[in-house]
Amino acid sequence: MSSQISKHQKEKIIRLLENNDDLPEGYRDLLFPTKKKEYELVYAGKERKEDIISETMAVPFQKVRTFGQNGKVWTNKLIFGDNIQVLKEIYNDQRGRNLLKTKDKIKLIYIDPPFATMQDFMKNGEKVYQDKVIGAEFLEFLRERLIIAREILADDGSIYVHLDYKKGHHVKILMDEIFGENNFRNEVIWYYSTLGRPNDRFAQKHDTIFCYGKSERTYFNEKEARIPYSNEYIKSHFRDNDDKGKICRKRFDAGKWRIYYPDDGMIPNDVWEIPYENSMSKDRLNYPTQKPTALLERIIKSSSREGDIVIDFFAGSGTTLAVAEKLSRKWIGCDCGKLSIYIIQKRILTIANSKSLENKDEKYSKEPKPFTLYNAGLYDYQKMKELPWDEYRNFALNLFEVRDEKHKLSGIELDGFRGNNHVIVFNHEKHKDVVLDYGYISDLHKNIGSQISNQFFIIAPAGNIDFMEDYIEKGKVRYYILRIPYSIINELHKKDFTNLKQPIDEKDVNNTVEAVGFDFIQAPDVECEYSSKKDSFIVKIKTFKSRIRSKKPVKYANRETLSAVMVDWNFDGEVFDLDKVYFAEDIKKDKFEIKIEKGKADEKIMLIYMDIFGNEKKEVKELKDFK
Ligand SMILES: C[S@@+](CC[C@H](N)C(=O)[O-])C[C@H]1O[C@@H](n2cnc3c(N)ncnc32)[C@H](O)[C@@H]1O
Repeated sequence: MSSQISKHQKEKIIRLLENNDDLPEGYRDLLFPTKKKEYELVYAGKERKEDIISETMAVPFQKVRTFGQNGKVWTNKLIFGDNIQVLKEIYNDQRGRNLLKTKDKIKLIYIDPPFATMQDFMKNGEKVYQDKVIGAEFLEFLRERLIIAREILADDGSIYVHLDYKKGHHVKILMDEIFGENNFRNEVIWYYSTLGRPNDRFAQKHDTIFCYGKSERTYFNEKEARIPYSNEYIKSHFRDNDDKGKICRKRFDAGKWRIYYPDDGMIPNDVWEIPYENSMSKDRLNYPTQKPTALLERIIKSSSREGDIVIDFFAGSGTTLAVAEKLSRKWIGCDCGKLSIYIIQKRILTIANSKSLENKDEKYSKEPKPFTLYNAGLYDYQKMKELPWDEYRNFALNLFEVRDEKHKLSGIELDGFRGNNHVIVFNHEKHKDVVLDYGYISDLHKNIGSQISNQFFIIAPAGNIDFMEDYIEKGKVRYYILRIPYSIINELHKKDFTNLKQPIDEKDVNNTVEAVGFDFIQAPDVECEYSSKKDSFIVKIKTFKSRIRSKKPVKYANRETLSAVMVDWNFDGEVFDLDKVYFAEDIKKDKFEIKIEKGKADEKIMLIYMDIFGNEKKEVKELKDFK
């Protein structure tokens, strides 16, 4: 058997054979590789495109809150979650009811994934940034996302993928495979000058940005892309006069004479010299990989129009979103780091104070358009149960990837299909006192058992179910209970569910993270002592325990699952406005004490204690609480 077959593929082949199912067409190449193929990048664990699309779980978006008045047609979106599941949700929505209104509207994707280069950013003598996922794993991580990203991009849209000189060449080959070599448009070299030069080679001072169109119709606004000529260039190149005596340059280009004027500016070439956001700049956020706004300004202006949707699903500090906002584009941002989400929330809400794009000495001065913050994959159960029935039903169907198709079987109303199998969403609102017990399943089987094949799904809140089993077998039919909330049902999914992990150290902020499935928020148990010293208020964490639901509970020591504490030291009673992050590793070094400078704190302090699974406990303290 070929060594190209991954563990996952092996398991899948075995499962299919055991179930007497046919192997999918493409598996022939895997099992019996031919020599006739065009060239492609080969590495262990490379899945088939079709499998990636079909086997990636989608996760519905749960609204956390909208900042500003909700737009009638569109509201910008900031989504906390693993981007692959978020992309799949958008993919499903575009092929379904298009409720998110993104179909044919996403004209630009810019991503700046963690590079997987083991590159170290030195800060305070420490490694601040270190990409962990290496080699083939990183390539497949990115390829999976690019494959689904291509599917949601409008036909005239473009994608820019920001990489560096280490993995860029491999990704270029993957992008040729995914987007087509003929749709390759540019390899942009972003050249910057930062401190630090090696003495054993040339200094590496550039990143690479690959740009692909989805088709030949890719939109490019050459007018917006233009930049002014330098004075020296004008002096040395514009020496002619037109028939009105205006200074110009006449050139015989591509078969005919053309006239160029200095004011028209020029289309930049593919080497861009743009400085990093200065560390003293007001727009510099404390995010290790923040990219300059000027870089995104050029990309967004040349590859989208006002009103188009721009997406960045490795949003980081939200540079793409902030620039899209200033350029009147609609935007969707996604990141799996809570820190990133809070930084972006603050960046957009305070955008009026940031620099104007036109004149760097002036403030932007405009309030942001409304945007909604969503959770995708980690949900608030109470909020969900309180949704009006139709919305709850829709959410439940999405959560378990059920095709919404109401139909009847022996007079019983059903809600849709998972694959070819019938699904019912138990109406807990209508049947407040009904509990799903063995009797309920027996009755169901009596009524419809003879008309269904071998699987039937019931989606219901865990509190309404009276037995522990994931399924009840009646004759040849398995009645599966999809519990809400639930954490782990391996039976139905190809991969084990894994939570999104939050970093415990600043150097891990940019790690690639993968989640499978979804979970429900369980605020950790937190107990602290609050005291006051000469210069600072002290919060000492005495107890920190996560309350994760899982079938096989893992025992964690006290404070072991702490990820970080985020502080807003002048909380306005409305919106959490992140001022400082204390990572668990640093808190541990300080004997679990968090020090808040007295001069910084105003009447109220808001603290968010977060565990490594992304669950938060929020608390507001008044200064008088620190004794
Ligand atoms: C290099 S940073 C992006 C920086 C950004 N361009 C900026 O200007 O601030 C990469 C980001 O990808 C996020 N990330 C990594 N894996 C992810 C995943 N599976 N889903 C969503 N975001 C992810 C990290 O949390 C990090 O914030």
